[in-house]
Amino acid sequence: MTKEKDKKDPHSITLKDNSSGKEYNFSVLESSAGPKVIDTRALYSKTGYLAFDPGFSSTCSCKSAISFIDGDHGILQYRGYNIEDLAKNGDFTEVSYLLINGELPNPEQKKKYSQAITLHTMVHEQVQRFSQGFRRDAHPMAMLVGMVGALSAFYHESKYDYSSTAGQWAAVSRVIAKIPTVASLAYKFSIGQPVMYPKNDLNYSENFLHMLFGTPTQEYEVDPIKAKAIDTILVLHADHEQNASTSTVRLAGSSGANPFACMAAGIASLWGRAHGGANEAVVDMLEEMQNKGNISSYIRKAKDPNDSFRLMGFGHRVYKNYDPRASVLKEICHEVLESRSNNKSELFDLALNLEKIALEDEYFVKKKLYPNVDFYSGIILKALGLPGSMFTVLFAVARTAGWIAQWKEMMEEGQLKIGRPRQLYVGKTKREYVPINERKIRPRMTALPADVPKKL
Ligand code: SDX
Repeated sequence: MTKEKDKKDPHSITLKDNSSGKEYNFSVLESSAGPKVIDTRALYSKTGYLAFDPGFSSTCSCKSAISFIDGDHGILQYRGYNIEDLAKNGDFTEVSYLLINGELPNPEQKKKYSQAITLHTMVHEQVQRFSQGFRRDAHPMAMLVGMVGALSAFYHESKYDYSSTAGQWAAVSRVIAKIPTVASLAYKFSIGQPVMYPKNDLNYSENFLHMLFGTPTQEYEVDPIKAKAIDTILVLHADHEQNASTSTVRLAGSSGANPFACMAAGIASLWGRAHGGANEAVVDMLEEMQNKGNISSYIRKAKDPNDSFRLMGFGHRVYKNYDPRASVLKEICHEVLESRSNNKSELFDLALNLEKIALEDEYFVKKKLYPNVDFYSGIILKALGLPGSMFTVLFAVARTAGWIAQWKEMMEEGQLKIGRPRQLYVGKTKREYVPINERKIRPRMTALPADVPKKL
């Protein structure tokens, strides 16, 4: 039996191939918090084996110092600060600075950073015209994907060197500054209202509310409770380790793609109901429960392995405990509803009741399915006056800060290594070409399935 090293390095893992008896050592990478990591970069070259982990449940795609999640204990930290502390004491401007720079800004740094963002909040007039090209009933997320992707034409590599620090900063300031403007453009277009230009005398979240709800006919009074609620929602959604949309941004960026094109890829991935699209799906589900009643039938469906229905806003790949963001959002829900004249919200009461039932149900307890960030956020956004189609847009506005911070962290590593996963091939092995007149009609593929549109 050949051993690579007689003395086993304590910071290594030995893998034994029982078919050949060979043993292979792989070093263990130390983390500053969370699980240790087996360095399997040489797995294939050493052993001839690939690893199979289609949902990346046990696979690290990168090293990062931005967010840390302890799923078992329901902990989320941005650059070492607990999310609850940042939500309570910080604001989105300083949190986005923290994600990008690694430290909270001092007053001078915050002022300069805030000014840099403010100066770039307007978009080229052509982008406004771009928005006019959509159907009136276009989902705002479809518009966001399209318009953010289109910004890559205005901030093209021919003008910006994104491999340089200056170029990366240009991307950061423009992406963070323009995403609320583009988001409100999509919203105004979808409701047929005139566009509101950003105002330099408002802070980030006030400006966003002004562009969403202001009209040329009346000066928009920023409600401080709404502004604080929106700002905290942006803080809570800003970053979250290597989730699907962040991984999409990194994969797109690893090929050297334009940062705005990478943001558009992230927006597309976030839109899925299993990810950021869940906040809209939660309110749809609650409203359906409200109309049809009978919550227990929904719980039954959610538990039925043969039913694809899932309790939206519940469960998480990493959190096997309460998502700390959901706890803060539940509090914000109370505050926003309290601030309204009719502080009753049947939807919120239903959500609280559903949470109680689920958390007392053995299925959810055993599978460690708790409310996640999307369970309460939609109720707040609805109470703030936004339609369901804008909920994931809000999520995207917030997460853009995390996406561009992760993109910058990857670019700063220097030598960009393109992300290129392998596969477990299960298709046909080599076979000879058969001329068409010798091919037998296979019973399976006789006609196109009925639901495929006739014109292909
Ligand atoms: C976000 O990754 C991130 O960090 C994402 C996010 C971020 O900030 O970026 O946190 C934001 O996307 C939050 C998640 C929002 N999505 C939803 O609320 C949709 C409902 N949730 C599920 O679809 C699901 O929980 C996921 C997608 C969130 C997680 O899916 P996983 O990790 O692949 O878990 P799984 O599907 O393997 O579920 C494990 C078991 C399964 O049962 P078994 O096959 O083992 O019998 O739990 C069951 C699932 O059927 N399950 C659920 C459920 N979620 C999981 N059953 C009923 N209802 C649910 N919601």
